[in-house]
Amino acid sequence: MAQPRIVVTREVFDETIDFLGRHCEVEANQADVPLTADQIAARLRNAEALMCSLTDKVDATLLAQCPRLKVVANIAVGYNNIDVAACTARGIMVTNTPGVLDDSTADLAWTLMLATARRLTEVESYIRGGDWTGWRLKQWLGVDVHHATLGIIGMGRIGQAIAKRAGGFDMRVIYHNRKPLAADIEQRLNARYVTQDALLAEADFIVLQMPYSAETHHLIGAQELAKMKPTAILINSTRGGVVDDVALIEALQAGTIRAAGLDVFENEPKLNPGFLALKNVVLSPHIGSSTEATRRAMAMTAAANAVAALSGALPPNLLNPEVKRA
Ligand code: GLV
Repeated sequence: MAQPRIVVTREVFDETIDFLGRHCEVEANQADVPLTADQIAARLRNAEALMCSLTDKVDATLLAQCPRLKVVANIAVGYNNIDVAACTARGIMVTNTPGVLDDSTADLAWTLMLATARRLTEVESYIRGGDWTGWRLKQWLGVDVHHATLGIIGMGRIGQAIAKRAGGFDMRVIYHNRKPLAADIEQRLNARYVTQDALLAEADFIVLQMPYSAETHHLIGAQELAKMKPTAILINSTRGGVVDDVALIEALQAGTIRAAGLDVFENEPKLNPGFLALKNVVLSPHIGSSTEATRRAMAMTAAANAVAALSGALPPNLLNPEVKRA
């Protein structure tokens, strides 16, 4: 019997291709040349599986051109690039990569917290510029992370991993979520549920970790920024679009808040140039999960999901279990 075909849209690790090759005919893109929607559609016309990244849009227009498609395996935990309802309507399974990236993404959120608090990118360019003439008492004063209040909006697995790290810094942790965590988890994390407005008003560090959707689009805009302390530091380690970038740039220019640490942006990779002119932002290019071990684990998780679906089994990270009944 002919093997099923899988299209992989971007470069992955060799071991991922080897694994897929044991189960499918693989159309890979190891040259990593970004593919247009039409190019993806052309490759998918005779394929049963798609392994894609968060930059690939999987919508009804694409799906209409892929009559044989059975599974879309995203190499990401977030899946706002995929129209899951349209997949379900066509009987196509959708999977993501939860769990394997929680700790690395939490580490990156913390990297941004510490770097903004201690002005790391500013001081580094000062040293590299050859401007350092010696130690001074009032030089490059930052703010303390330890004993400050950490406010986390979005308390899923990654939010909880961020909260867990706060214990070592003796922080007070408050959070807002669609629903409060179970009491034993709150107790373990030493975290207290508050309203979003209370969190915005009380937190010294506000970390955004909710998924992006129509409901969370511009969750943080001018009004929410105005509710924060002028000393607050905002960290976005989840998705561009949950913050209104124009409003954030205005707030950072006006001193409405102290600083921001951003791993994600609206219209990535074409971020608003207003950010580049600001000293009180630390910027990174959507690398939350980007450690070698984690990215390898994400690619293998996506591959295992795709292979499971192709073999007729339920993939471990199926997002639309109702598809089996559709
Ligand atoms: C990365 O942003 C992911 O969703 O995995």
